[in-house]
Amino acid sequence: MARLCALGAWLWFRGAVAQQPDLDLGTLFEGLGAMQNTGKGGKGAARADACPAGQSPVPKLDQHSRMMANGCGPQGLVIKEPHGLFRCCNGHDVCFSVCGTSHDFCEDQFSKCMQEVCQSPLSGEHQECQKQAHSFSSMTKVFGSGFHKASQQDSCHCVPEDEAGKKHREYLETFYRLYNESMLDTDTLELQLSKWKGKEAELYFDLVKKYGHLFVQFDDVPKEFVHVPQVAVHSRSDL
Ligand SMILES: *[C@@H]1O[C@H](CO)[C@@H](O)[C@H](O)[C@H]1NC(C)=O
Repeated sequence: MARLCALGAWLWFRGAVAQQPDLDLGTLFEGLGAMQNTGKGGKGAARADACPAGQSPVPKLDQHSRMMANGCGPQGLVIKEPHGLFRCCNGHDVCFSVCGTSHDFCEDQFSKCMQEVCQSPLSGEHQECQKQAHSFSSMTKVFGSGFHKASQQDSCHCVPEDEAGKKHREYLETFYRLYNESMLDTDTLELQLSKWKGKEAELYFDLVKKYGHLFVQFDDVPKEFVHVPQVAVHSRSDL
């Protein structure tokens, strides 16, 4: 949830909490979200906006080297939570910087991850965990979309659609050359590219969760993510 404070939202948020400790933040943020969403392009708009017509977003070759994660809370201010949700917050932070994600995709992954963690929270407090998760989700849904858009602009190039395939191959090769050379043989690479064609961002997000401990800049938080497989099947061993 890095850099939410750029929006000035955080101070306001803390003020609201201090004045009304019983406030149901989830409900409050949902209300704000509903207000903010009227008059906007609707779901999936973030993706379409990323590049002009006829062009596709592809990752800059070094997109992963700029990724940062700081657990739950805006940059420089870690929210202490006893449930283990920081691993989901780390994932949410990097998701924004994976070229080609939509804001909705990142929010959806964030919720799924927290649901997973709240099934057996470190605190043992199942319900408290879910309340916290709900609060976090409501906050990022409302305040995250501008930041998501800015992160996409940092991470992506726009290229003509017919060059996108080549650029994705180039990116993936560069990535594996750095983090797992055994993936570099041509067949493996081609197979992966064809399997993820059109949803490369989901592959890249998976790769960040798998190899991110090697390159993401973690600020005052353990270098951990939760791997929630894209294709259903939630397995505890992936935590
Ligand atoms: C590298 O990729 C291979 C599959 O080609 C996998 O078995 C191995 O675990 C990976 N290495 C690391 C460090 O993740």
